[in-house]
Amino acid sequence: MLLSELVFATNNKHKLEEVKACLGDSFRILSLADIGCNEDIPETADTLQGNALLKARYVYENYHVNCFADDTGLEVDALDGEPGVHSARYAGDHDSQANMTKLLQKLEKKCDRNAQFRTVIALIIEGKETLFQGIVRGSISKERCGSGGFGYDPIFIPQDYTQSFSELSMEEKNSISHRGKAIRKLVEYLKSQYEK
Ligand code: IMP
Repeated sequence: MLLSELVFATNNKHKLEEVKACLGDSFRILSLADIGCNEDIPETADTLQGNALLKARYVYENYHVNCFADDTGLEVDALDGEPGVHSARYAGDHDSQANMTKLLQKLEKKCDRNAQFRTVIALIIEGKETLFQGIVRGSISKERCGSGGFGYDPIFIPQDYTQSFSELSMEEKNSISHRGKAIRKLVEYLKSQYEK
């Protein structure tokens, strides 16, 4: 089967650019806005995989297009994987400063500051569902460092680094990040199965 077009169930410009950069000219990637989907797709599952599938199935079933969706969480070992699937709304709705403050407070008395970012991508092509996962291990710093990036970037130090994600260039972060790894697995799969 030849595949030329795929919908990425997001309107996040940063993510779209990242995926387009990885895919090159092989496939055309459309956003939710490109297919006229302006709904707030429910993310009510209690796992990353569940949410990625919910979003991809919503688009596949309502718009009848081949598509993929992602979901990411920061999983802290000493907090049994918290904030995990609740990362975006841990303290306040997409309020990164409040989310980081809450996490730093919860870790105040913990010695183990190990954590990981995990991304799950759910792909649906002609009804066939395939999952891809990317993980980056690291630790949570005691205070915020750097001003780049978004979300928890200022307090996440990837393994074998001394700087936080915020202090790395976007290229450097993408080369080691959870999302970068998951996207590269998706791209490898698409190229092996569907490239012209
Ligand atoms: P999403 O599923 O990609 O929207 O991610 C959910 C939440 O996880 C975001 O709102 C951020 O708080 C956090 N997050 C995801 N990816 C990253 C990242 O690369 N750096 C920092 N925080 C992230």
